[in-house]
Amino acid sequence: MSARTTVRKAVFPVAGLGTRFLPATKAQPKEMLPVVDKPLIQYAVEEAYAAGIRHMIFVTGRNKRAIEDHFDTAYELENELQAANKGSLLTVLRSIVPDDMLMSYVRQPRSLGLGHAVLCAEHLVGDEPFAVLLADDLMVGTPPIMAQMVAQFEALKQSVIAVQEVPAEHTRRYGIVAGDKVRPGLIKVSRMVEKPAPEVAPSRMGVAGRYILTPAVFEQIRQQSGGVGGEIQLTDGIAGLMKTESVYAFEYSGKRYDCGSKEGFLQATVELALQHPEVGAQFKAYLDSLRTSA
Ligand code: G1P
Repeated sequence: MSARTTVRKAVFPVAGLGTRFLPATKAQPKEMLPVVDKPLIQYAVEEAYAAGIRHMIFVTGRNKRAIEDHFDTAYELENELQAANKGSLLTVLRSIVPDDMLMSYVRQPRSLGLGHAVLCAEHLVGDEPFAVLLADDLMVGTPPIMAQMVAQFEALKQSVIAVQEVPAEHTRRYGIVAGDKVRPGLIKVSRMVEKPAPEVAPSRMGVAGRYILTPAVFEQIRQQSGGVGGEIQLTDGIAGLMKTESVYAFEYSGKRYDCGSKEGFLQATVELALQHPEVGAQFKAYLDSLRTSA
């Protein structure tokens, strides 16, 4: 493993097609779908930033330009807001990318799987540990989930994967880990399987879309031929990593919304709207009125 033990870089695989959200994602990236007033990708970037990460690396693809535009300066819009004296909106726009945040973009030329997407970022990550955040998992926690994971990584100095217990009938949706409990909330992983059927799943601990990985994972991904669905799976790369390094599964404290599914997206929208400082109270009153009129 490299000598560096701080997590400075985050990889955001955003090349996926988002077919579960068609027709909404026909002409726009699924990562740009808003929950209340912010696109999913911005929630993930803010989570990484709150964990002390400053270099954001996006693995993008065709038709994903809106993501780059979102993290770029919008001169025309800024000028218009300035002329209209809308200072607070200007602040909202400018705070999307703080001065000390660095953005890089690399393309994944073919949809060969999540492992392949992460491998596309290798030359930008280099020989140091890095985070992976899947933006369709919107994670809410105090401290933010990635900050909780960085704290674990700094203590363990080995790869850390976010997990939560999932219902047996959902094991097919996730990477599933099993291993020995080191202490409450921390498992030393000995098995990791991508999307197993409930009958063969080694446990019910499902991987959420947050990882901190050591750079040795790149070599392991390179050695993978196609896994589940013929894709180069990140799960298989991490399983390979376990031959030479320890990998830990961390039960984060907080909530995960699977915004890759309509149900999860709606749950996130309702719950985050209720907490929103501007619209929360009114929205709650509206929901209450629906309940009483039903
Ligand atoms: C990916 C991973 C899976 C993980 C999931 C979390 O699957 O392959 O191991 O549990 O993200 O959201 P996807 O949701 O991209 O099919």
